[in-house]
Amino acid sequence: MRPEDFTVPEPPVTPLRWQGSWRDGHLRLLDQTRLPRHETWLEHHTAETVIDDIQRLAVRGAPAIGIAGAYALVLAARGVLAGDATLSRPEFLSRLGVAAQPIADARPTAVNLPAAIERHLRLADEAPGSPEQIAAALLAAAEGLDRYELAACAAIGRYGAAWLQGRHRLLTHCNAGALVTTGIGTALAPIYVLHASGEEVFVYADESRPLLQGLRLTAYELAKAGVPHAVQADSAAAGLMRRGGVDAVIVGADRVCANGDVVNKVGTYSVALAAQRHDVPFVVAAPLSTLDATTAGGDDVPIEDRPADARAYLVPEAVPAALEAHAPAFDVTPAALVSALVSEVGVVEKPDKYLLKAWAEQARALQTADDAGR
Ligand code: MRU
Repeated sequence: MRPEDFTVPEPPVTPLRWQGSWRDGHLRLLDQTRLPRHETWLEHHTAETVIDDIQRLAVRGAPAIGIAGAYALVLAARGVLAGDATLSRPEFLSRLGVAAQPIADARPTAVNLPAAIERHLRLADEAPGSPEQIAAALLAAAEGLDRYELAACAAIGRYGAAWLQGRHRLLTHCNAGALVTTGIGTALAPIYVLHASGEEVFVYADESRPLLQGLRLTAYELAKAGVPHAVQADSAAAGLMRRGGVDAVIVGADRVCANGDVVNKVGTYSVALAAQRHDVPFVVAAPLSTLDATTAGGDDVPIEDRPADARAYLVPEAVPAALEAHAPAFDVTPAALVSALVSEVGVVEKPDKYLLKAWAEQARALQTADDAGR
């Protein structure tokens, strides 16, 4: 089947929603720390509380933190105006820039967050009119990003499904589904599309350490969508591949560097090594917003450490409290291990720096068209 012949289903869950105008609206976030047991919605009226929730992973995954950050910037603009409604345009923009920094810095590894803040600050600078009009333009930009990511998921789903069809047993690592964006996800998008189009699929979801995103979140959303699956320990992946039990691996990304290196949830590199050893295709699905053409390679990406979370999830009570945890949240998979990269503009096998440069230019053109159409 061709990409356009596949069926794109509704997302089984949506992690965030904005309600209202820039003046009186608020951001609603599904608290992912409480899933799968509790579906609790949090309401945010200030940028500071959104920053807290990005840091404690109530909202998580590369595109979702970019979108949440863009809405947080609207709340920051409102906060600046609430402090002094008589600010001149240059004073307002300068205070907005200061308020934006902690949003951009809330988490270091996924490029979507700082990239969204940088882009929307630039749009604020270029927007005509008063501070109030700039705040309204920031909300329009955040809603534009929200819609863009939703559509990107559908396109990734169709392209990925066309590439993967005939491969039924798929392994994924971490959670890169509907919970990480506003559509049907990145790595899980082709899986949802294959399933909705009547193809047989079975998903092995690595539990994912240290925060159990696979066990708690991937299993939760696959169950909601009725996709057959099993959760396994991260350390079971290589053995399953050795026995011939996996037809392809598909994962998301927090950043794809200029040379094609992929930064994703810790453990992704081990999965990629095992896939190469056993001739299993290793596919990365990511929207162009995750492409960072300004960072040369994976070694230049800041890797977040989460020792407190690691202790909470990894260390049983019987172990002394003073035990040190080594807890990088992400790792780097070299480009050479990637069989194919799927984005909203297509699939490339063996991505190289020339292609990624062309994709980065395409991403800029798409954003410009989107801004002009708003
Ligand atoms: O620490 P998290 O849960 O935010 O990490 C998320 C991941 O590593 C995902 O695999 C990644 O963001 C890709 S999903 C678009």
